[in-house]
Amino acid sequence: MTKIFAVVNRKGGVGKTTTAISLAHGLARKLTDDSGEPTGHVLLIDLDPQGNCSTSLGIEVEGDGISALLLGEVSAENAILPTDRSATGGPERPNLFLIPATDRLAETKLALIANEAVNEVVSRMTRNANRSVPIDQLLTTRLKHAAEVFDYIIIDCPPSLDALNNAVYQFADAAIVPVKVDYLGAAGAVRHTRDILEAQAEGIAIKVGLIVPTFVRSRQVLAREVLGTLRETYGNERVSEPIPSSVKLEESPAAEGGLTIFEYAPESAPAKAYWAVVEQVHNGEI
Ligand SMILES: Nc1ncnc2c1ncn2[C@@H]1O[C@H](COP(=O)(O)OP(=O)(O)OP(=O)(O)O)[C@@H](O)[C@H]1O
Ligand SMILES: [Mg+2]
Repeated sequence: MTKIFAVVNRKGGVGKTTTAISLAHGLARKLTDDSGEPTGHVLLIDLDPQGNCSTSLGIEVEGDGISALLLGEVSAENAILPTDRSATGGPERPNLFLIPATDRLAETKLALIANEAVNEVVSRMTRNANRSVPIDQLLTTRLKHAAEVFDYIIIDCPPSLDALNNAVYQFADAAIVPVKVDYLGAAGAVRHTRDILEAQAEGIAIKVGLIVPTFVRSRQVLAREVLGTLRETYGNERVSEPIPSSVKLEESPAAEGGLTIFEYAPESAPAKAYWAVVEQVHNGEI
């Protein structure tokens, strides 16, 4: 069974991309046996037109990635890229794959809305049951067969999903919400949780699987208070190991063309913290 997680938070700069990449790569390492052979596969999907997943992993993007897939221009097999760079002296990542985003995604979202409006009118005129795929079912439909190949799919969401909001919530099993540990961040996450609960009421099955506190300065009273509030609000088991504030996490996307924290600083505190999140997710605790 493929497990699909959307890394979401309406607030910008809270560590969504960092969490999505670290989790995806960590899970890929988990799915590797002692001799380095993959025992499973992980797919990372970038839904942010900034395209940070590919640059952070050091992947050259050819084509339009997720845009071409959403518009039906390419099939999933052709949108999925390997992230292994061992052939060019980079890191070995045999079982981590990526559907990248490019800046065309912003325009794609508008095109999808326009298509949807046209389809609506055409189908009413012709009473044609043979409609194109509704936006809300786009990810589920276009990735149906490809999804079966992967053990985990991690979606890196931008602060605003716009037209793709429901498509993500229909496709994903649970939300992983990084919360920057300051009062503002915590308030933003609470608002987001309410949205997700409201969406659930409309029949979209998604739960907040895990809150990941980020940018945590453990010696700060404020940070400790917010952590306490998060655990009270969501329950201990739904709040992960806190990710410390660390320059290593800022440096790794630019190091040697783009490394994950497990490649750049495997013994560092943030690597250990993200590894605990990987284990929590892999042990099926969310
Ligand atoms: N725990 C951390 N400590 C220090 N810096 C961090 C930490 N997590 C992420 N960063 C850095 O903070 C910046 C924002 O992180 P990131 O891009 O992961 O956030 P985001 O939520 O994906 O942002 P956006 O909303 O723009 O997509 C990046 O430069 C990243 O390297
Ligand atoms: Mg991001």
